[in-house]
Amino acid sequence: MNKTIAVIGASTGIGKALVLEAAKNEQFKVIAFARKTDLMEKSFQGLKNVSCHYLDLENINTEKFSSCLKLAGPIDFLVNNAGYLVNKSFHEMDKNDLIKSYQVNIIGIMEITQLSLPHLNNNFSHIVNISSMGGFQGSAKFPGLTAYSSSKAAICSFTEVFAEEYKQSNIKMNCLCLGAVQTQMLEEAFPGFIAEVSPKDMATYIFDFVCKQGKFLNGKIIPVSLSTP
Ligand SMILES: NC(=O)c1ccc[n+]([C@@H]2O[C@H](COP(=O)([O-])OP(=O)(O)OC[C@H]3O[C@@H](n4cnc5c(N)ncnc54)[C@H](OP(=O)(O)O)[C@@H]3O)[C@@H](O)[C@H]2O)c1
Repeated sequence: MNKTIAVIGASTGIGKALVLEAAKNEQFKVIAFARKTDLMEKSFQGLKNVSCHYLDLENINTEKFSSCLKLAGPIDFLVNNAGYLVNKSFHEMDKNDLIKSYQVNIIGIMEITQLSLPHLNNNFSHIVNISSMGGFQGSAKFPGLTAYSSSKAAICSFTEVFAEEYKQSNIKMNCLCLGAVQTQMLEEAFPGFIAEVSPKDMATYIFDFVCKQGKFLNGKIIPVSLSTP
């Protein structure tokens, strides 16, 4: 059973751990995307089933991205894991902070998803969006995260509407709202806070979810959280 998984935001934290988790399975081909290709090449050195590609969600080279997927495809699984967090009080936030948060966390993810459609496996594919408990309706909220959490809420909504629009197709989409995981991004949001969950543990959960749950769930927003933070 040969499968191909594309991971967006694969250079550090949870995305990097997800690539390593998927690559353990020899029958998986892993396509890793991020800006820091040097970091990815170092982390995934020697893994024959992993290829690393430059992608900037603020300035997507659509031809390059499409041709990567075409060469690697058909794609069974797409994990939209990339994210950008700015931690600033609302009155200090400038237009660039807002534009960058929305471009990376939702607009870029929608663009990537659209570009991926022709390259998905026609028989079955599962797209998993990585959101945050901050974007989960009714959850605890934290000051400084207006741009981040509201853009993460948008990816939840995108998931529900996409799933409705494509419900007659073989493409399934779900969204995981993560709680605290010990990464650089968590440190930026909550300096000094120590999370109970490591990137590796979260990646194990995500990989299992990606592989198994698309057959049972569609358009679901699922909290995956021990704490927030
Ligand atoms: N850690 C947590 O506690 C936590 C909680 C809730 C949700 N999350 C979500 O989990 C996901 C992974 O976060 P993480 O904690 O592992 O943080 P991280 O280590 O900062 O990873 C973020 C990833 O996104 C990529 N990225 C950022 N800007 C990009 C851009 N313009 N173009 C392409 N890729 C870009 C980064 O790659 P490059 O910089 O190389 O491009 C990196 O691979 C994010 O969506 C985050 O919102 C994390």
